[in-house]
Amino acid sequence: MKRLVVGRGSVFADLLIIGEAPGLQEDLEGKPYVGKSGKLLNDLLKKTGIDHEKDVYFCNVIKCRPPNNRKPTNKEINIQEPWLFQQIKLIDPKFIILTGSTAMRTVLGIKDPISNLRGKWIKKDGREIMTIFHPSYLLRFPSKESEKPYDLTLKDLTNVSSKLYAL
Ligand code: URA
Repeated sequence: MKRLVVGRGSVFADLLIIGEAPGLQEDLEGKPYVGKSGKLLNDLLKKTGIDHEKDVYFCNVIKCRPPNNRKPTNKEINIQEPWLFQQIKLIDPKFIILTGSTAMRTVLGIKDPISNLRGKWIKKDGREIMTIFHPSYLLRFPSKESEKPYDLTLKDLTNVSSKLYAL
């Protein structure tokens, strides 16, 4: 672990995307979602018409890379959670995308399997929040067939795009 990875993108964005924790590339560059998962996520955002440079701010639940890319512990999440909640207040987005179960549990406090919740809008504190599969899951299951994780995520992000640009 080399540094704190706070965020990247426009602080004026209406869409905030929250990941789990920095990986190796994120730690090296000091920016979230710039490694393999980030490239896939940027590609999906582009495909669904979301301008990830202008209209999105990215951050993670955990601001420093856990050793050997392990999952963050509950203790680490509890310690860092107040920074995330402060960050959400500061960016003040209308929409939030939670990528994967760590972000879903931390922000929504919901422990269900992600497949129960993905693609559904949930209202909290005046914001609309959607959980999607984590891009690293799509890297592990890359099939582009209909109704597989990649296709479902494209549909979820198309839904987000139409709300975001209908503002
Ligand atoms: N990179 C990030 O910044 N966050 C993740 O959750 C995964 C990769």
